[in-house]
Amino acid sequence: MDLNGKHIVLGLTGGVACYKAAYLCRLLVKEGAQVQVVMTEAAAQFITPVTMQALSNRPVYVSQWDAREPNNMAHINLSREADAILVAPCSADFMAKLLHGRADDLLSLMCLARPLERVPLLLAPAMNREMWAHPATRRNVAQLRADGAQVLGVGEGDQACGEIGDGRMLEPEELLEDLLAYFQPKVLAGRRVLISAGPTFEAIDPVRGITNLSSGKMGFALARAARDAGAQVTLVAGPVHLTGPRGVQRIDVLTALEMDSACRALADQADVFIATAAVADWRPAIARAQKIKKQGDGQVPGLAFVENPDILAAIAASERARSGALYCVGFAAESQDVEAQAKAKRLRKGVPLLVGNIGPATFGKDDNALVLIDGEGTLEMPRNSKQALARMLVGEIAKRLPTLAAV
Ligand code: C5P
Repeated sequence: MDLNGKHIVLGLTGGVACYKAAYLCRLLVKEGAQVQVVMTEAAAQFITPVTMQALSNRPVYVSQWDAREPNNMAHINLSREADAILVAPCSADFMAKLLHGRADDLLSLMCLARPLERVPLLLAPAMNREMWAHPATRRNVAQLRADGAQVLGVGEGDQACGEIGDGRMLEPEELLEDLLAYFQPKVLAGRRVLISAGPTFEAIDPVRGITNLSSGKMGFALARAARDAGAQVTLVAGPVHLTGPRGVQRIDVLTALEMDSACRALADQADVFIATAAVADWRPAIARAQKIKKQGDGQVPGLAFVENPDILAAIAASERARSGALYCVGFAAESQDVEAQAKAKRLRKGVPLLVGNIGPATFGKDDNALVLIDGEGTLEMPRNSKQALARMLVGEIAKRLPTLAAV
């Protein structure tokens, strides 16, 4: 659980999006966080403290005059315990209030009283699109950021008022993701990371083709981990049923040739290339324009194949990779003898780091076990979620990069 041992103050201010805060609270608790809910009086018009108490398993605070704290200083006590204060939903009015350092209710009092250097403040705005676009709100967002608050993004779409546009609060899952990202060390800040993921699809005719069982999950988990580590990430994805992480540039491709040209073009602007894609080794020599018909006489069509380019090997042989400006990481999905196979593959592909795993045991699954091979030796990463492994792998890659030139 990624928030184990973390103490999160979840602040609610007045807005319809309060209904989403109930589910967010549940998600935070499920991730292992201790959640202390603090609501403004306006928030209590939208959702009751009873609901939030039941979900957080703690009494909710609403008033600065609440006498339950022995020293009667809830704003001090609660903000000192926190690893982060997340205000979701954060109304336009509450942002304006924070901006001026006003403190006439418990939540704003806590935000002002928090130790700035130790307790981050994350705001999840929620408002009507006109309010979000208003120059006053734009100004407030910019100033709050300058004052050190993390103003998270907003969603776009149907609004409770019936209008459509920007300003919806992000979904609870997205807010959880942003909070988790916030806690990740920014070991790839300033780096550009290119990742290939998923299978490729090689057409035989307009309705058939050759593909494989790669789900793309490891590559997508790496894209997310690299983004959370502060990198600018581009993900070249074969046909997969996955939603791309927010903030990651995603380029969808179908065939090995399309993946090859996308990756080669993008590798020129990358500092790291991680090839997780299960690229088809061969493609049919001819993709027929019309569907091949069954003749009904027992005859089967003969298929001739040509080899696909090895994207990783080609990029690893490029000038930038050989000079150390581009760090290449390969994956090996084996069915047995992973370590020996991965060692041989590292040399064959000419990459500094190769990651081995058991293909059939990991395709489509949410967990995996990895073995990292580089010039120094071997590092085993025992079975864990793909996301946890991705975070560890990103840490290992970061350690191996040349230090960024001082700007
Ligand atoms: O040769 P093999 O497919 O086992 O190598 C796996 C590694 O090489 C993976 O990192 C994969 O993404 C990459 N690869 C590639 N282009 C290919 C075949 C594999 O980039 N045509």
